[in-house]
Amino acid sequence: MSEEKSAHYSVTWQEEEYIYPPNSFVGQANLTDPNIFQRFSLENFPECYKEFADLLDWDQYWHTTLDTSDAPCWKWFVGGKINASYNCVDRHLAKYKNKTAIHFVPEPEDEPIVHMTYQELYRRVNETAAVLRDFAGLKAGDRVTLHLPMTPELPITMLACARLGVIHSQVFAGFSGQACGERIWDSESRVLITMDAYYRNGKLLDHKAVGDIAVEVAKKEGQDVDKVLIWRRYPGKYSSSAPVIEGRDFFMDELLKEYRGKTVAPVSMPAEGILFLMYTSGSTGRPKGAQHSIGGYLAYVTWMSKNIQDIHPEDVYWCMADIGWITGHSFIVYGPLACAASTVIYEGVPTYPDAGRIWRIAEELNVNIFHTSPTAIRQLRKAGPDEPEKYNFNFKHMTTVGEPIEPEVWRWYYNVVGKKNAAIVDTWWQTETGGFLCSTVPGLAPMKPGSAGPGVPGIHPVIFDDEGNEIEAGAGKAGNICIRNPWPGLMQTIWKDRDRFVSTYYGKYNKNPDSKDWRDWPYMAGDAAVLAKDGYVRILGRVDDVINVAGHRLGTKEIESAALTVQEVAEAAVIAAKDEIKGVVPDLYVALKPGFEASDELAAKISNAVSTVVGKIARPRAVHIVPDMPKTRSGKIMRRILASISNRTDVGDVTSLSNPDVVEHIRKQVQG
Ligand code: WTA
Repeated sequence: MSEEKSAHYSVTWQEEEYIYPPNSFVGQANLTDPNIFQRFSLENFPECYKEFADLLDWDQYWHTTLDTSDAPCWKWFVGGKINASYNCVDRHLAKYKNKTAIHFVPEPEDEPIVHMTYQELYRRVNETAAVLRDFAGLKAGDRVTLHLPMTPELPITMLACARLGVIHSQVFAGFSGQACGERIWDSESRVLITMDAYYRNGKLLDHKAVGDIAVEVAKKEGQDVDKVLIWRRYPGKYSSSAPVIEGRDFFMDELLKEYRGKTVAPVSMPAEGILFLMYTSGSTGRPKGAQHSIGGYLAYVTWMSKNIQDIHPEDVYWCMADIGWITGHSFIVYGPLACAASTVIYEGVPTYPDAGRIWRIAEELNVNIFHTSPTAIRQLRKAGPDEPEKYNFNFKHMTTVGEPIEPEVWRWYYNVVGKKNAAIVDTWWQTETGGFLCSTVPGLAPMKPGSAGPGVPGIHPVIFDDEGNEIEAGAGKAGNICIRNPWPGLMQTIWKDRDRFVSTYYGKYNKNPDSKDWRDWPYMAGDAAVLAKDGYVRILGRVDDVINVAGHRLGTKEIESAALTVQEVAEAAVIAAKDEIKGVVPDLYVALKPGFEASDELAAKISNAVSTVVGKIARPRAVHIVPDMPKTRSGKIMRRILASISNRTDVGDVTSLSNPDVVEHIRKQVQG
């Protein structure tokens, strides 16, 4: 046993044993060439990435693999012209037009599963693109905000945008109107595309009403939305109680009637054009729009889908993430469709109506590649540890993503879900990175429960201490994980904020801001990690003010500022409290302005404010109204101490605080 410490984490574990992928998997795997790491060594950088680009169809082939002239905003495959929609749809028609592209599973179990062929997808993407171009007036370079739930209309809309070179910014449907409105404003979208309603946990949720709030919020910030395009969950029938605003709101199913059979030629876009924005939480202030390119991003996720997810066109592939997050963009939509996969989209909650639902879907569709998060695995294990055995499905490959997975949970996934016959990859990456950074290559390397693995081919991780010294593999010390080299899937910049991009990801370890040499720009991910002797990386968690709830990144600042919208609240501090299912959940501590009294009603009001401003996923587990926050002498709130109280660990020495007595008071109040 060794104990690893970083500024924020203290973790104890033992080294786990290797588990080898079954021969049945290796025998059919796309990538089994052991020379792959040599091919993608730093000596062969960046030209090795030609192999990625060559998975795509280019309208015009590129001339420069990597242009570093605007470091650290890298340009990949410069000179190339390409269309992402063409690569995900049109190019498959010759061979696969009659093959399923999307299996859509509605949450109500009595609604039939929809099997949409590539031909059908082609038709729907074209007609939708025609509406966007000819009715909504959208053209290449415009931004459009999508606030769509998990139905086929989401990928159809994304691909229609991509066909036109329009930049989509999909906001997770569970986010509040306020959060959506801020993203409309930041991206300067004048069109919002939403849906009237969708199912979650047996209820048809009114979603259009949320869109109305978003439009109002954006307007207050100074961004007018002149068209709201509304898909209807049941075409022809409006399932929302929100009014339809004349001249602004339009039903997609009605508009589409005018565009029946229309085709739209894919717009040939520069490789370094923008495919989409994906907002994510950072350590300060507002969410930042990660800006992803067309050519580099698509090449990256296609290669990863083929070689790390091992997708063959014959496979039935199911990633249970929400398309509203990067995992869904890269590994439900763009990567799998570029590989001509059949990709599954499930509308609802994994345990609805019971703990067997997921396994029934897997059985019915004969899913053989399954991709989900540790939170979902923990939830499914708790709800029905023996359920998978009752169903006849066999996964050849499984993925875990989004949070560290406990070895014990990993083993249940391997033994019970995978029936000891699947290769598992634990993929570590981020919204910013477009695709995987660390993972084992499933046909080549053994798995190690709880460790993501080494860098994927082409990715060269390094762990630095705070002073920028490299921590050697096997040193048993945690540090900041960085990537030495750029790669094609990496975001281009933060939308409209290059300075924030440079300072957030490169500020700490770049020594020469004028350098055009990529070697001077290690990418800092913001995670603490340990590198074992065998080169396998174990991720410990975020080092910045971000908490990862059920695999969703939430900025503590966003939650705290939501709490501060309640007028009684003077100070707010959020900490990550350990949770059996979700990994961590937010616990909120607040101190009131003078003259206000703590009460359950006030705590509920604060909790509701967080749900309204940020979204339900951010709702605190508890709101503790405390007499004062523990503070340093310089007035900084000591969140670490609050976290120890919530998690019932030792608060350590508090004598140097300006108000040490309050710690014991808070401890009694919270722990009882
Ligand atoms: C965490 C999700 C451990 C990490 C793709 C990262 C992980 C953040 C893993 C990014 C993993 C992601 N093991 N931790 N396999 N995958 N993380 O942007 O802290 O939503 O920085 O992207 O999730 O979250 P994001």
